[in-house]
Formats: sequence, structure tokens, C-alpha cells
Amino acid sequence: MPEVLVVQCVQKMPLGINKYKEVGLLKIFKFMVPEIIFGKGTTRLVGESARRLGANRVFLVSDKGVAEAGWVDRAINYLKEAGLEVKVWLDVTPNPKDYEVERGTEAYLESGCDVVVGLGGGSAIDAAKAIALLATNGGKIRDYEGVDKIKKPLPPLICIATTAGAGAEVTQFSIIVDSERKVKMAIGSKSLVPDIAIIDPVLLSTKDAVLTADTGMDALSHAIEAYVSVAATPMTDVFALRAIQLIASSLRASVASRTNEEAKTTMAMASLMAGIALSNAILGAVHAMAHPLGGLLDLPHGEVNSILLPHVMRFNLIACVERYAQIAQAMGERTEGLSMREAAEKAIAAVERLRSDIGIKPRLSDVGLKEEHIPALSRAAVADVCLVTNPRDATEEEIAEIYRAAL
Ligand SMILES: [Fe+2]
Repeated sequence: MPEVLVVQCVQKMPLGINKYKEVGLLKIFKFMVPEIIFGKGTTRLVGESARRLGANRVFLVSDKGVAEAGWVDRAINYLKEAGLEVKVWLDVTPNPKDYEVERGTEAYLESGCDVVVGLGGGSAIDAAKAIALLATNGGKIRDYEGVDKIKKPLPPLICIATTAGAGAEVTQFSIIVDSERKVKMAIGSKSLVPDIAIIDPVLLSTKDAVLTADTGMDALSHAIEAYVSVAATPMTDVFALRAIQLIASSLRASVASRTNEEAKTTMAMASLMAGIALSNAILGAVHAMAHPLGGLLDLPHGEVNSILLPHVMRFNLIACVERYAQIAQAMGERTEGLSMREAAEKAIAAVERLRSDIGIKPRLSDVGLKEEHIPALSRAAVADVCLVTNPRDATEEEIAEIYRAAL
């Protein structure tokens, strides 16, 4: 007689990824991914991809930096070669703001476009997702903060990643700054998973060393947080652990040389895998704490994450010693003969060494944080959706202590 799968829901989680006690064979989970097109030169497939989604006129969301690098013109050409009309929207800044996406939505609705293409790093892609959301659902972007608030289908969405880090081209999240409250809102819904994600490592060749370092550490924080998340599953584990391994082996080389194609391609794959892991296992305290900090001081997301990451790992250690020991091994640390605890601590040391090697400052005071900011940041962090999946429960006081440790 076959074994009967019996599961019992023990904790309600965001996005319907509830935590189940395993009584039978398998945990129950969902796994969301878009169609993924990966490889050098695949940006040229954007026109054909948009056509397959029924496009006549494409709304292309990007930013001025990506345009200066020449990638916007290239995408326009590919879209026109496929016989499509294009309306370009470049008014997106790093850490995209609510008013920017609301203006972008007006432009989309006036343009008569029928497909949205996001081209850029996390900021441009998150903005493209938010514009697509408001285009059919209406209202203000603040109305959708949290999970599963989107009721109507979005226009078809294609995302092309220009940084190896955010993973936004495959996730079910969009992060937008509420300019009044000065916090980053996390909006989560399976409706935000793009229809098609294009990852073309050639687009990484124009990134400078600082952006390469920041975004690479963002990808590492995605993979580590997803690997120890309480919503992790056997499928997210595969993507998270492999991403950690690839980042540990290639981020230094990718930062060191703009022309190291092999390292750039490996980082593009690592970022994609980390994005798939985070979209399905969600994140933890690093991102819960980075969101209000990034909103308050308008700082690069990856830089903030990489400063917070070792401190959050130290706090979380007692909840996931074995998993940290596995992370240490994935990062190439020697763990033979060590206790589980000693091996786990090596993961934290490996993250700090990587961060130092690629030139990221180690303290939040280096990027402008002051002691007086901490109470408000801690209040916002405990309300952030990412904290729900952190492996160790954290109070507002404990979060404040982590900020102070990183100050
Ligand atoms: Fe991130």
C-alpha cells in the first residue's frame, strides 16, 4: 500500500507558502518561475518575445544609467526590428519612488501600449512591475503593500536584467519607496512574476567595480537568507546552495575585471539562481532591516545588505547551525575536524572576508547611519514582511541591537 501524504499546517506564511509539519513524505509548497532565456546576446530575443505575448506597442521602462551604457537603444532596435512600436520611460531613480511609478503608469495608459518591458537592475525592473500592476489594478502603489493584494491580471511583462544581483527579473516581489514614510514597501504576489525573463551576461560588461560588488553581495544575501528561511524547500535549497557556491568562486574575479566574461556569466547565473530561491523561500532579517534603512538614507541596497549580513548571521546562528556549516562548505571553507558550531562560524568569517576583498565598507556609520535613527528603523523592520521567514524570531529590541552591532 502506498504511503499516504499527511501534512498539518503549523504556521500561516505570506504568499500562501504556509509552514507544514511533515507527517508523511513531502512538504507541500508552490514554486514560481517565469520563462527564462539565458545566454550571451539573448537581449536580441526581446522583440520576438514581446510578439509572442501579443505586443503591438511596447512600454520600455529603464533608467538613465542603462540608457547611457547604450542598452536602451539596443533594445529599441531589437523591438523595432520585430515590427513593434516603442514608448520609452526613463524617469526611474535608484530605490524607485511611489510618485515615479504613478507617473509612469499615467504615461503607460496614455501611450496605448500593450506589453511592458523592464530593462535594468532591480530598480528599473521593480518600477516596471509596479507600473504594470497599477495599469490594470488602479489606485496608489501603497494600496498593494504586503502580500496578495493584487486582484486583476497585469499586462504581459518581460524583464531584462542588467546587473547580476537583484534577481527581480524572476521574483514575485516589487520594492518601492513610500516617499512620505521614507520606507521601502515590499509588494508580493505571484502576479508580479514576469512572463519572460531575459538574462544576457553581455549586459554586465558596462558595470563598474562598485556596482558589481554591491549587487553581487545582494545576490549572496538572497541565497543565504533563502537557504535558512523557514519557508525553504528541497527545490529552493538546490538553487540557494549552488548560488552561494558560484558567488564565492566568481564574485572577486567579476569585481576585479570588467572584461572577465567567464566570471560575469557565472555571476549572472548565480544571481538568477539566488532570485529563484528568494522568490520561493522569501528572505529574512537582512532584507527586513535593509528596506527601512535604504528608504531612509537612499543607499545602495546591496551595500546595506552586505554590511548587515554577518551581523544577522551571528544572531541567527543558534537557529540554523547545520545550514551555516553547509554554507561554509559551499563557500570553500575547510571544515574537516571542526564541530558543527565551529564550521557554522566559518560561514560568517567567509562572508566578511569576501566583503572586505571586494572593498565594501564594514560599518553602517560609514554610510551615514546614526544612533538616533535606530529606534524608528527597528520599528519598521519588525513590520517588514521579510522578517516572517527569518529562522530566528526577533523582537524590536533585538533588531535594534543588530543595527547597533553593525553601526
Ligand atoms: Fe536584495
